[in-house]
Amino acid sequence: AELAGKGKTLFNDTSLSSNGLSCATCHTDGAGYNDTFENEYPHYVAMGQNDFGMEEVHLDEMVQICMVAPMAAEPLAWDSDELAALTEYMRGEQEKFRNR
Ligand code: HEC
Repeated sequence: AELAGKGKTLFNDTSLSSNGLSCATCHTDGAGYNDTFENEYPHYVAMGQNDFGMEEVHLDEMVQICMVAPMAAEPLAWDSDELAALTEYMRGEQEKFRNR
């Protein structure tokens, strides 16, 4: 719960990007996802395939994909608290998306 709380703060933090966006700019209240977000990870995601040639992605990789592509930022360190927190928060968002 503590990790998810930290993830929520990061989700709304525009300083993570280089272009003034936060995750929430695109993803407030379940917006901006395709139906693939319902699927168990790892799974196929169009952006992962089209922009990074990845057949399927894990949830932490999906966070990194959105960091690098729409957020135009450097990926987070793979062993960072930030990545762990955002990944945990997104797990909860996925649950809400499934129940929408
Ligand atoms: C400029 C808009 C934009 C921003 C900002 C953005 N995303 Fe995304 N995100 C997208 C789009 C578009 C998709 C759908 C990709 C697809 O299905 O090909 C997506 C999909 C996702 C998915 C679900 C992929 C799936 O189907 O399994 C997750 C998780 C996600 N984003 C997390 C994040 C996180 C975390 C951040 C902040 C670090 C973020 N996004 C910032 C546009 C954005």
